[in-house]
This record gives sequence, structure tokens and C-alpha cells, in this order.
Amino acid sequence: MFRDDFVWGVASSAYQVEGRDPEDGCGKNIWDTFAEEGRILDGKDAYTACDHMHRYKEDYKLMKLLGIKAYRFSMSWARILPDGTGRVNEKAIAMYRDMILSMKENGIEPYITMYHWEFPQALQDKGGWLNEDVIQWFGEYAKVVAENFSDICEYFITLNEPECFVGLGHLSGVHAPGLKLPYKDVFKIAHNALRAHGQAVINLRKYASRPIKVGYAPTCGMAYPATDSPEDIEAARKTLFGFHQPMDNWTWNVAWFNDPVFLGKYPEEGLKKFAEYLPEITDEDMELISQPLDFMGQNIYNGYMMRQGEDGEPEYVDREAGAAKTAAGWPVTPECFYYGVKFLYERYHLPLYITENGMSCHDDVSLDGRVHDPNRQNFLDLYISALQRANDDGADVRGYFLWTFLDNFEWDKGYTERFGIVYVDFKTQKRIVKDSAFWYQKIIESNGRELTVNKKTRPILFLNPVFKEMIWGGNQLAEKFGYEIPSDRTGECWAVSAHPNGDCTVREGEYAGRKLSELFKEEPELFGNLPLDRFPLLIKIIDAKADLSIQVHPDDAYAKVHENGSLGKTECWYILDCPEDATLVVGHNAGSREELKEMIDQKRWSELIREVPVKKGDFIQINPGTVHAIKGGLMILETQQNSDITYRVYDYDRLSNGKPRELHVQQSIDVITVPAPSAEDSVSHAADLPANTMNELIACDYYKVYKLTVTEPVSFEQEHPFLIMSVIEGEGLVNGQMIRKGDHFIFPSGFGKVDLQGDMTLIASSVK
Ligand code: FCB
Repeated sequence: MFRDDFVWGVASSAYQVEGRDPEDGCGKNIWDTFAEEGRILDGKDAYTACDHMHRYKEDYKLMKLLGIKAYRFSMSWARILPDGTGRVNEKAIAMYRDMILSMKENGIEPYITMYHWEFPQALQDKGGWLNEDVIQWFGEYAKVVAENFSDICEYFITLNEPECFVGLGHLSGVHAPGLKLPYKDVFKIAHNALRAHGQAVINLRKYASRPIKVGYAPTCGMAYPATDSPEDIEAARKTLFGFHQPMDNWTWNVAWFNDPVFLGKYPEEGLKKFAEYLPEITDEDMELISQPLDFMGQNIYNGYMMRQGEDGEPEYVDREAGAAKTAAGWPVTPECFYYGVKFLYERYHLPLYITENGMSCHDDVSLDGRVHDPNRQNFLDLYISALQRANDDGADVRGYFLWTFLDNFEWDKGYTERFGIVYVDFKTQKRIVKDSAFWYQKIIESNGRELTVNKKTRPILFLNPVFKEMIWGGNQLAEKFGYEIPSDRTGECWAVSAHPNGDCTVREGEYAGRKLSELFKEEPELFGNLPLDRFPLLIKIIDAKADLSIQVHPDDAYAKVHENGSLGKTECWYILDCPEDATLVVGHNAGSREELKEMIDQKRWSELIREVPVKKGDFIQINPGTVHAIKGGLMILETQQNSDITYRVYDYDRLSNGKPRELHVQQSIDVITVPAPSAEDSVSHAADLPANTMNELIACDYYKVYKLTVTEPVSFEQEHPFLIMSVIEGEGLVNGQMIRKGDHFIFPSGFGKVDLQGDMTLIASSVK
């Protein structure tokens, strides 16, 4: 769980949202020039952007309405210092002060980023980041920021993503100022940027009117392991802080931009690899760069998967086909928030804020006038859940700033990427709150408790049946249910069983391969924490090609004493299929126990046993003590107590492997109920019950059984300790997953809403 004072915020940058005004006194910056040169997609510019400079009061009210507690925003250097140094633009100071004050009026804590990429053009003309004077220039800007805002703002961040503005701006030239400089220059720029950061930290603290908190916000893709094995984890850690990038991409390096700041030294491996390109690096430089910070910001959007290769070295692992991506084509990899955050914290050990994270989606206004962005909600849910895990495992995570509040100007991509949780119609500047913002509101209000991960959503447990060969079995379990059976003498499919004689395993998902008996013991909450020493039910499908023996089951009390603590057996049958003139044995005709004994001794079977006619769809409850037998030709779904105790009274003198099967005459005589209740009372006709509702077939001490025929969509809340379902006819969907005849599954406790549709019949069961 996140700390009570966890900071829930949103992030933005000046250039991406503010816009301009002919009267604003703003100096020109490198992005204005870049736009003038037509280097933004579709020839766009940020002259208006979100017009936030005229609408911020409304925007903060909207933030307040949505429960947002903190806002990381940036100040435009050239707005404050139009020439980069010297003259201060008082209109800018007034605007930013008013912004901060109105944030605070709305209960929003300001976090100022000093530099989010819009370098003053006047200073670019003097060489920009390549000119060593940039350290003093940036220091001067820091002084102005501290003097003017430290009385009303406590949190300051120096640089946003140096990896980006150094690399994209000066190596690949994709971002302003659009340069493709030689490596030597780019390394110098990086070094100067880090020194400028250090100088800013010094000046922010020196000129602040009170103690303030200062941090830094680098970015990078995070390496995460393909599995949880120590080898793969090490491969990911090594790669994350290593130097695997090709030279034309070298700035995407975590250690190079973090180690000097947080650890006071450049990493050895990099110093070696880059030696020929490096500027002079002095001890004074390192001291300047590594000014103590109060927190570390990290902008994390995605990661890449690593494992240990056969040669012991880390190797990249491709994501599976069709793995999720954002509209920007960035991989959706929540793992980076668990492992990335853990790795960063282990190495740098400073309180950590996620200073940016979010996704672009293809958002549009729907016919209902709203903006539905379930992909973003899912992304955030997955990522923030992973962050919570990292936090719970010891990383000191203090806050999360979602990128971003308003759809805005996405740099070289212009307005083609929508990252906001609030939709902006750029023609009218109308704001429409997207669904994800309402979701985020709930997360904030609950301090993360409403994350799906904390709501313990539980999967449907699909089971692998176990098959039993029997002398009376046949091949209908293959013919009618499509199962792969061991032979054409397969009598029983143990479809839901935790019995040691046939323990089902979970077919798929997070519990795949686990035995039902184990799950019941080890994850009791899945089954409503029932106070039982074993899973209580056993569901079978029986294919009786020949008659089953005449038998009887003991009750719990008798089984406990005579069967080594086993449960007795109460069971019930739903007739899946049978011939026209089918019968079952249910009950007997003996008037007293003496008569019963006599009839058994004298093998007067036809006189003793009671046969009743049955049809498809009949339902029969077999209480302990009931003499019964399934006759050849029947297919039955049986719901019973989790027990395998049967007393065989008579087996038609059949031989199994050349020998008669064992009989249990004495036990049978002990437990048979005398006289038997009337047969009619135990058979009910369940074929034509109403569709699309749960029809209760029986509720006894041991189970409740229902029949559900689905012809229209059916929804209900799963409120039993667990609910077993078996599809006995047809096919359909359960919560979006395809199910068909022969599938058996369990909805765990607290599963929530079940949605079924299709054309199918199911038998369901639970305990009382
Ligand atoms: C980050 C930037 C931010 C925005 C997001 C999508 O790299 O800091 O301005 O562009 O990406």
C-alpha cells in the first residue's frame, strides 16, 4: 500500500500547454524556431496549444473537481528571461505566481520544473548547451526562480529528461534545435547540462526564502527480467545500468545521466567506452554535479525484456506477437514499474517520485458526447499496481505524476498524440473529461486501494478432468463430450475433484498446473475460507455402457469410524442422456433389516431392488443408505461429497481381470436405510425448467445444485463461497471467454459479476 501522504498528481510542461499572447513579453525559444522551420508534424506550432495561459484558473478547478492533489508543471525560461539572462519579464513572474496561488486555492501542490526543453533562442545563438557559459546562464535562471517562487512553492525540479534534449535535440536532430552534432560535442553538451543542473541546485537553495526540496527528472526505458529467476533479474539489472546502446543512440543511458548526479561519479564502463569523445572531467565538475538532492524523479514509460543467455551474458527477449502497444507505438510493459523502480531505488536510494508516466491513445468523442479510453485506464491500473508492488517491496516511492492532464502539443508530433486524461478540442479549446480521469479520481480518493490488484479480482478456475476406466465404462465421454479418454472402457470423468484418487489441475492462468486440493489448502480465500479440511464436492460425468454394481454409501458418521476418517457420500444425479426405456435402481423392497439380510443372502435381487423409469433431464437425490445403481446406457452428471466410499452389494457376478470385484455385504447391511423411502420422492423432472434463471434442483446439508439454460444474456453476482459450473449442452461465453459442452470451471469467492450468453445448459453447484 502507498504511504498515507503519497502524492497523486499530473504533469505537464510550459511549451506543451501554455500558448502565447502578443502582449506576454515572452522571448523566443528553440521550439518556436523549430516550428517556424516547419519541422513539426503537419506544420503545426504551439502558439495556442491548450491556451492554458488564459485558461489555467478553469483548468485548476477541473483538476480540483477530479481530486488531483499535485501538479508538476514547468516554467518557460525564455518567458521569464526573454534573452535567457539579464532582463526579467515581470508579466511572466506575475502569471506564474498567480498560477501557483490559484493551484493552491484549489488544494493542488505545485512542483516546478525549471527546464522542460524550451531553450532560449538568444542563448542558442551563443552556442546553447555547448557553450560552457550555460552553467552560469542556467544558474542565473535558477536564482530568479528561487527568488520569485520559493515563498509559495516548496518543490523544484531542475532538468526534465536530459537524455532526450541532449540526444533528440543534438544527436538525431528530431527535436529542437534539430542538430546532428559529432559525438564529442554531444558528450560535452551532456556534461554541461549536468553541471548546469548542479549550479541550479546550489542557486535554488541559496536564493530561496526558506528551505525547499530539490530533485531531478531523468528518463529511460527500464530493463526487466523475462522470468523471476535470479539469473534473469541480474541480466536485467546489468543491462539497465550498462552500456549496450549503439553509439548513435548512446544518450539513452541510465547510469550516465544518473550516477554523476546521485553517486558523484560517471560509471567506469562508460568512461572506458566513451573515452575518445569525452571532454575534460574534473573533480570540481563532479562535486558540482552531485549536489545533494531531496528526491529523485524518474519519467518512466516502458521497458524491454532481458534474460541470461546460454553464454551467461544478458540477452534481449522479444515480446510475444500482438503484445500491447500505445497509440505512439510504445510497448505497454508494466513490469518496468516494478523492476525499474526497484533497480533504481537499490542503486540510488533516494525518495522517488514517478515524475511522468502515461500513454497516448486514439481518443475521440463518442456519439454519447464522452471520451471512452479503457486502454488508458487499463494501462494506468497495470502500471500503478506494479509501482505499488515495488513500494511494498521496499522502494521508497513518494508520488506519481500522470502524464498528462490535458491533451497537448506533443513536440515534433504536433497534435497527433493524445496523452491527456482530459480531451481537448483544439478548435474550440473545450475540455471533456475522459473516462480514465474519473477512474484516476477513484484511485486518488482511495490512495490506490481501488486499483484492480487490491480488489483481488480472481480468475475463473478452468479444470482438467481426470478419467477412470471401469469394467462398465464406454466411449461416450469421447463421442459426446469430445474428451480424450484413455480407452473405450472409460466410465468416469472426474470433472471437478480434489480427491487423492483423482485430483484435477487448473488448466490455465495464474494457478495453472496447481491441484485443486492444494489450492483449497494454500489459497483458502478462493473458496471463501471455508472451515473444512478438504474441498467438499466432487463432480463426475458417468458413462455407463453396462450396469454399475448395486451399491450403497455410508453417511459421515459411519464413514468416519469405519473408513479411516473419510466423509460419507451424499450424491445426486442429473440424467444427461439415456435410452427411451431407461431405468435406475433407487431403493429396495425389504420391510426390515432381517428381511434385507435374508434377501441379500439368498440373492433374491429382482425381488429386493426397486427400479424406477427415468428420462433425460431427470434429477435424483441419493442420500446415504439408499440402495442404488446406474444402469447401462445412461450418462449422468453426478454432484457428490468429496468421498470415494462405495459399498458394493451385488455386482451381477461379473469378473474384472478374471476375478469378481470385492463386495461389502456386511457394511451394506449396516448402512442401508430400512424401509426405503418411496422412489417417486427422490426423482424429479428437471428437463423443462425456465431458461435464463438459476433453477435450484436441491439444497441439502452438503450441496446446492442448480440448472441453468442460457438462451439470452444472463448476469448475476457470484456470492457463494465458490460456484462450480459444468457445461452439459451447447456453447457460449462466460465473461468474454468461449465455453462449450464438457468445460468445467469454478468461480472463486468474491468473483463478482458473471456474464453468460450463448445457447447452452449448465449444472452449477456450491455448498450451503
Ligand atoms: C516525455 C516528455 C513529455 C512528453 C511525454 C510524452 O518524454 O518529457 O514532455 O512529451 O514524454
